[in-house]
Formats: sequence, structure tokens, C-alpha cells
Amino acid sequence: MRKKIVAGNWKMNLNYEEGVSLFSEIVNMVKDEVVGTQEVIVCSPFIHLPTVAKLSENVKNVNIGSQNIHQAESGAFTGEISASQVKSVGVEYVILGHSERRAYFAESDALLAEKTNAALKHDLKPIFCIGETKEERESGKFFDVIKTQLTNGVFHLSKEEFAKVVLAYEPVWAIGTGLTASPEQAQEVHAFIRETVENQYDAEIAENTTILYGGSCNPSNASTLFSQKDIDGGLIGGASLKSRDFLDIVKVFN
Ligand code: G3H
Repeated sequence: MRKKIVAGNWKMNLNYEEGVSLFSEIVNMVKDEVVGTQEVIVCSPFIHLPTVAKLSENVKNVNIGSQNIHQAESGAFTGEISASQVKSVGVEYVILGHSERRAYFAESDALLAEKTNAALKHDLKPIFCIGETKEERESGKFFDVIKTQLTNGVFHLSKEEFAKVVLAYEPVWAIGTGLTASPEQAQEVHAFIRETVENQYDAEIAENTTILYGGSCNPSNASTLFSQKDIDGGLIGGASLKSRDFLDIVKVFN
């Protein structure tokens, strides 16, 4: 059975103390809620990673993700961080392909394929984001956009490698805007993603791939979204900065 995941992406928020305090609250609140095949992931800024990874060490099904890595092993890349560096402090996941990285840092599909390889080489599981802009949705091109992002970003992987990838559908027009995709709109795309994965790999891989929804997900809309057949949880931005809201989203699976 595929994993159900609620992942928080703190983006560039919270100083060190605020982040550690929020994480401690989250752990206390969610530790008895996450059972079976469920998992909670917190993707903090780099400065919190060693501490939050330590705090999560003995908490079942709570893991830590990084929000980025560089594609190279090491070297003269001032300001960057490598897969092996984040792995060395206990990080298990890395967000790749987020639309903010694609838009503000010009991350191309080709670069994201390299970053995916770097992550897997160091046993970091990618949370690979895909999704269309408002214009692409309105022009009806969104299925093509999503297929291209998958093809160029992750479909070079072998079956064994792809099995470690979590996908996140994040329509760009829904991120941080308060506009959520309707459950039907989201389900339609999630079903398309699963079918595309099946065509590329096989039915078993497609069935086992966790596909998260992201974009203005909150405690009020999470349950209708997560009850859709092909939606396996969420990648949560704003609502992951409030422990109570994040907990309420985690509780949707119970
Ligand atoms: O990574 C998270 C997504 O960008 C969603 O952010 O929940 O603030 O819309 P949001």
C-alpha cells in the first residue's frame, strides 16, 4: 500500500529559535497521530536541519526534508549545499522542482534531473514537484506541461530509483494565493499523473507512487482533497507554519 504523507514546507520563514520551537510543538502533537503507512515530513530551512533531525530521531514516521540541494558532489559553489551534506545531518527527503525554484532561480528540467540523480546517489528521497501556471491551465495545455516536467525531470530513472520518488502536484496558480484547486480538478490531474507513471513504468509502480497535492491546502479543505482516490496527502506551505493547522491536516487521515 502506498504511503500517505503530509509534508510541511516552511520556505524562507522562521529564525532558528522559532523553527526549533515550532518543530518541538509539531512533534509533540503529531507523534501519536501518525500511524501505519502515514508519514509526516518537515522541510525546514538549512539552519534548522541538524537540530530538527536530531529531535525527530526517535519519533516514528516523522522525517526531515531539505528544500534544495546542489547537483554537484562538492566544490567551489559559494552559498550552495550538497546532497551528502544534508544527508550527513539526518535528512531523508529533498524538495526538487518546486515552482518557486523553477521561476525565481531558473531551475530547468535538465538541472532538476541532475539534482534528482544527486539526491538518489546519497539516499535522499526526492519530493518532486510539478504543476502548471495560470496561463497554462487557462489555455488547456496543463496535461502536456505536467507530462513534459515528468519526462524530463524523473523519467530517466530506473524502476528501482523511481520507486523512491514522491510526486507533488502543485498548480502554480494555487500556491500561496488562497485559491485551491477543487477536489475534482486536483483528482483529474493526479489520475493523469498516475496513468503517465504507469505508461512509463508499470501498474505496480504507479499504484505505489505517493502523489501529494500542494497549493493553499488548509484544515478546511484538506479532507475533501485527501479523500480523492489518487491524492495521497499534501505538501503544505503557509498552514505548516502553525502547529495547530498542521496537526489538523495530519489528522485528516485518522
Ligand atoms: O510547498 C508548498 C506549496 O508551495 C504550497 O504553499 O500551502 O502556502 O500555498 P501554500
